Amino acid sequence: MSEFHRVCSISEIPDPGKASFEVDERIVVLIHSGGQFTCLDDVCTHDGGPLADGELDGTSIACPRHGAKFDIRDGSALTMPATMPTAVHEVKVDGDDVSVRIVDESETVIESETSTGEIKEDLVRETLKKVIDPELFVNIVDLGLIYVVAFEPSDGDKVNVKIDMTMTSPACPAGPQLIAGAKNVVGQIPGVDDVEVRIVMDPPWTPDRMTEDARDQLGIF
Ligand code: FES
Repeated sequence: MSEFHRVCSISEIPDPGKASFEVDERIVVLIHSGGQFTCLDDVCTHDGGPLADGELDGTSIACPRHGAKFDIRDGSALTMPATMPTAVHEVKVDGDDVSVRIVDESETVIESETSTGEIKEDLVRETLKKVIDPELFVNIVDLGLIYVVAFEPSDGDKVNVKIDMTMTSPACPAGPQLIAGAKNVVGQIPGVDDVEVRIVMDPPWTPDRMTEDARDQLGIF
């Protein structure tokens, strides 16, 4: 696990304000807003834009390249064209000193693994929530697009993950993006070898497959 590194004093970043720093060979943006410090990777997940140069608005920051917004508290992508979250790092304020600890992706996933280290369906489904449908702005799990998550042994202790996923319509233009996103996030879970995503249109998706959260978000009651 990485350590905290002092990056600045409180007064060096006005509220609201932000600045980028290199910590453990990673470029991060430290944000001061509403009396709180938060820290994100200084990289837009759309195409690598520098978030430190973007506009801060309360709890969101906009990428200066194509305008995608991210939540400064949890790194989630709030608007297109970004669909994947950016990494969040730990911040500690001690007296006048502000320190940052780099949290790498595998660390956050390991925390949610079972005590035996076995990969469970719940973990895969939770991880798949990072993939947001670019047209509806709701994650693919809450939309009810994930039908089956199955495992098969691979080399050593690793497993292959097979996902049956549907689309809201057969001609959904976001299909390739959602498949790539699902493979990418699940492939980062430690212990996962190969990820196969199969598109199934039978049974067809219907709005009643959405969770209540998704319905609320879309204003469907
Ligand atoms: S690089 Fe950030 S929105 Fe495109």
